[in-house]
Amino acid sequence: MVQPAVEVQVHERSDASLGAAIVGLLEEVAERRGRPAFGEHVAGMLTSWLAGQTTVGVTVATASTEEGAVDAVGVAGPADGGGLGQVVEVAVAPAAEARRGAVVAPLVTALRDVLAAAPEATGTPLHLWVHDADQSDDDVAARCGFAVDRTLLQLRAPLPGRHRPRSRIRDDLRIRPFRPGADEDAWLVVNNRAFAGHPEQGAWTRATLLEREREAWFDPADLLLGEIDGQLVGSCWTRVHDEEDPPVGEIYVIGVDPDAHGSGIGRALVVAGLERMERAGLRTAMLYVDAANDSALHLYRSLGFSLARTDRSYVRHLAASDPPSGLPDLTPAPPE
Ligand SMILES: CC(C)(COP(=O)(O)OP(=O)(O)OC[C@H]1O[C@@H](n2cnc3c(N)ncnc32)[C@H](O)[C@@H]1OP(=O)(O)O)[C@@H](O)C(=O)NCCC(=O)NCCS
Repeated sequence: MVQPAVEVQVHERSDASLGAAIVGLLEEVAERRGRPAFGEHVAGMLTSWLAGQTTVGVTVATASTEEGAVDAVGVAGPADGGGLGQVVEVAVAPAAEARRGAVVAPLVTALRDVLAAAPEATGTPLHLWVHDADQSDDDVAARCGFAVDRTLLQLRAPLPGRHRPRSRIRDDLRIRPFRPGADEDAWLVVNNRAFAGHPEQGAWTRATLLEREREAWFDPADLLLGEIDGQLVGSCWTRVHDEEDPPVGEIYVIGVDPDAHGSGIGRALVVAGLERMERAGLRTAMLYVDAANDSALHLYRSLGFSLARTDRSYVRHLAASDPPSGLPDLTPAPPE
């Protein structure tokens, strides 16, 4: 069957009809997949762009077929949490799923070209995130010159779970809620030590944390601090996803100071987070974990979590010499 030609447009700004087409497509994707089309960070950038609040640093492109319907939307912008480089995500309309590769590849390539044109972008990584990734996504990413970077697993567990009461795990650990305005500095030190080298979580600044504290979902009672002899040794930050029906509790950030790893603190903090979710009446717990994070995976599986979804990021480094749209080269990205 002859595939209809795909036309890609990079948009400088939104207008009413483009905004309606994009929002409509995202709603269709969310309904079909049972989850938002984009990850939270990219969705936030797109919302600001559609509202005309952020036009600098965010690039939006659409792919359409001859019939004119928008088949896919691509959004690119700065990485989350002060991480290096840019991220790009693509949402494909359910009606265009059958020609996913034919739609995604030119869209990603066009966005990459726009980003690569900025001289300061040369050498920086561009991360393509795909939710529910499979082999066909690996193939499309490779065709666009991206290499597999990280595999992120979404795990879920029913509540109440099979975790042990934390009093039997560590008696000397005091767990208390975060106090805004007082605990930021200590939390940042332990977080950045626990996640040293992590692309999104390891270089948080006070500004990153204060930004999260201003989020509508933030509740300081959800950020549990673990102290031994008055010293912060780790924390477990949970949050509720009301957009899911029924709502789901997420273990949002869990980190233990490296000097205290392997002594039961992580387990005690996760259990405390799960107990908090149970008290709130939640029936499902959820979290994201890097597929290479053996210690965390071991901990979560022992608490009843199992695989719900696989997300993957692909990376390629931007270069001024990137070929123009439609001609993806297959040069492997240089090492980080
Ligand atoms: C994951 C993390 C929170 C675990 O905290 P911890 O205090 O070291 O964990 P615990 O001592 O409570 O151990 C929990 C389980 O993990 C296992 N574990 C701990 N370190 C491990 C390691 N290096 N390799 C394999 N398993 C390990 C333990 O065996 C333990 O299981 P057990 O109770 O059956 O013996 C901690 O390693 C951490 O902060 N890592 C960096 C940040 C991070 O990756 N967070 C998770 C993101 S999803």
